[in-house]
Amino acid sequence: MTYRHKVEVMLTKEEIAEKVKELGATITRDYSGKEVTLIGVLKGSFIFLSDLVRAIDMPVEIDFICAKSYQGTTSTGVVNVKMDTILDIRGKTVLLVEDILDTGKTLSALRETLLSRGAAEVKIVTFLDKPARRKIDISADYKCYTIEDRFVVGYGLDYDEMYRNLDYVGEVILDG
Ligand code: IMP
Ligand code: MG
Repeated sequence: MTYRHKVEVMLTKEEIAEKVKELGATITRDYSGKEVTLIGVLKGSFIFLSDLVRAIDMPVEIDFICAKSYQGTTSTGVVNVKMDTILDIRGKTVLLVEDILDTGKTLSALRETLLSRGAAEVKIVTFLDKPARRKIDISADYKCYTIEDRFVVGYGLDYDEMYRNLDYVGEVILDG
């Protein structure tokens, strides 16, 4: 099977590892002594979350939520919860962990959902931030990188479900 695009390296696995370690140290410093629940937004955050939690040096709870809002390279604007969290988050500080903050629709909808369930506060932790495409007034509390308006894959991020397993982040360059 041939695809009419190529993938160009944007962030190497070494650069990513360094940044995620730094973020883990920052979160440890900011939340040490507090009860924190990290909720990974599936599927895109699964690699970032697994590296991040191992860079956090304090006890944390971990859960997942699966929300789908994307088809191909443009957002449908619809956020569906496909698989839900298990832990009781009432009164907890929640760190909502996402692969990329793009239009902001997914994270603002999920943040509202978690607050309505009684979370004390919900902070946004994103691996990548693409502010150029923001449609909703939301910003990350923690992020690893800000990127230009480019479609990227790897380190959990997909292009129609492909490339999540790349250990680097690459830009998708469409042919023609
Ligand atoms: P938002 O709701 O528009 O902020 O979209 C967030 C979701 O869009 C992310 O969780 C990704 O699944 C997807 N997304 C946005 N930009 C990209 C990209 O450059 N590559 C892959 N997925 C992306
Ligand atoms: Mg996706």
